[in-house]
Amino acid sequence: MTSTGSRLDHLECPECRTTVPADRLATTCPTCGHALFAVYRTSDWSVVDWRASLRERPATLWRYRELLPVRESSSIVSLGEGFSPVLSLGAIPEAPTIDLWLKDDGGLPTGSFKARGMTAAVSRARELGVRAFFVPSAGNAAVALAAYAARAARSARVYLPESTPAPMVGACRRYGATVVQVPGTIREAGVAARAAEASQGAFDLSTLREPYRAEGKKTMGLEIWEQFGDDRMPDAIVYPTGGGTGLIGMFRAFAQLRELGGLERPPRLYAVQPDGCAPVVKAWNDGAARAEPFPDPHTIAPGLLVPAPFSSERVLEALRGTGGGALAVPDAEISRAVERLASRHGISASPEGAATYAAVRPLVERGWVRDGERVLLYNTGSGIPFL
Ligand SMILES: Cc1ncc(COP(=O)(O)O)c(C=O)c1O
Ligand SMILES: [Zn+2]
Repeated sequence: MTSTGSRLDHLECPECRTTVPADRLATTCPTCGHALFAVYRTSDWSVVDWRASLRERPATLWRYRELLPVRESSSIVSLGEGFSPVLSLGAIPEAPTIDLWLKDDGGLPTGSFKARGMTAAVSRARELGVRAFFVPSAGNAAVALAAYAARAARSARVYLPESTPAPMVGACRRYGATVVQVPGTIREAGVAARAAEASQGAFDLSTLREPYRAEGKKTMGLEIWEQFGDDRMPDAIVYPTGGGTGLIGMFRAFAQLRELGGLERPPRLYAVQPDGCAPVVKAWNDGAARAEPFPDPHTIAPGLLVPAPFSSERVLEALRGTGGGALAVPDAEISRAVERLASRHGISASPEGAATYAAVRPLVERGWVRDGERVLLYNTGSGIPFL
C-alpha cells in the first residue's frame, strides 16, 4: 500500500472548538451540530519545497494530496478531475479598466466543480468503509456523486427538485443512481432525503454535513494559487453562491497557504446570488452573522436556489475575513451574461457561473473593484445541460 502523505490530523468545529478524531466516519459536530472541518499538521513542513515538487505531478487535484484527507493512494476514486484552465477575458465593455479572468470548471468530469468535492468525499468515505451514499442536490452534485459512486462500485440515491434540468436527471440514472424527485427546492429535497434515509444506513453527503466535500473544494483555491503564482494572485474572486462551499473551500485554502508562508494576502472573496434567492446577500447587507431562510425563492440558476444555506456563518466569515462582500443580480442579467460569455469569449457557462459575469458591472459601479485590479470569475459548471 502506498501512503498519499496526507497530513490530516483531526477534525474541528469552528463554532464551539470541539475536536473529533479524523480516522472514524464523521458527520457534523457532536456537540453543537455545526459543520466539522479537517485540520492538518503543517508546522514541520516547507511550502517552498512542496510547491516545487507540484510541477512534476499529474494535472489533477490529487496533486495536493498532502492537504487532502485520503491516507492511501489506492483509496482514491478519480476521473481525472481538477486543474481546470484559467482564461483571460481581457477588457470587457462593462469594465474596460479591469483585468478580467475566468477559471472554468465546466470541463471537469460530470461538467461541474461538484466533481472536486465528490472525488474527495467518496474516496475518503470508501476508505472508512462506506458502501452506500445519498445526497439531496440541485442537480450537479447528484450527477457527480452518481459518477463517483459508479467508479467506486458503491450505490447512490439522489434526491432532486422536480425542476432539475432533464439532462442531469438522465445522467444520474445512466450512472446507475436511484433518483427520487421531490417538489420544491433543494431544501425540501434535503428534508425528504433525511426522512427517507433515516433507517437505511446510507451515508449522507449533503453539503457540509460531512467534512470532506469541502476539502475537495479547497483545491479551487490551491489551483488559483499555483496557476497565478502568489505574487500575481487576483485581487478579487467572484463566486456564484448557493450553499457557499466553494467560498468556504477557497477561504480555507488561502488560510492554509498563509499559515505555511506561501501566500501574503488572500484575494477578496465576493458572493454573487440571484436577486430571487439571496439569503447570503441579505445577511451581508444586514450585518448578520448567519442567513435566514429566503422567502419565495426563485431563479433560473438551479445551483443557486438554496434558500437556507446550512453553514452561512462560515460563508459570511469568508467574505468578512478577506475584505470581500456579497451582491445580488437579476435573472435577466444572468441570461444576458450566458449569451455574452458564449458570443464574446467562446465560453459555455452555466447560469450560476454566468452570474459572476453579470456581477462585474455592479462591482465596478460600487467601487468594490477598482481600476487596474485583477478579478477572477469562477465558472462552476458547463452550459451544456442548459442548451
Ligand atoms: C453550477 C453550480 N454553481 C454553483 C453552485 C453553488 O455552490 P456552492 O455550494 O459552492 O455555493 C452549485 C450548486 O449546486 C452549482 O451546481
Ligand atoms: Zn460544535
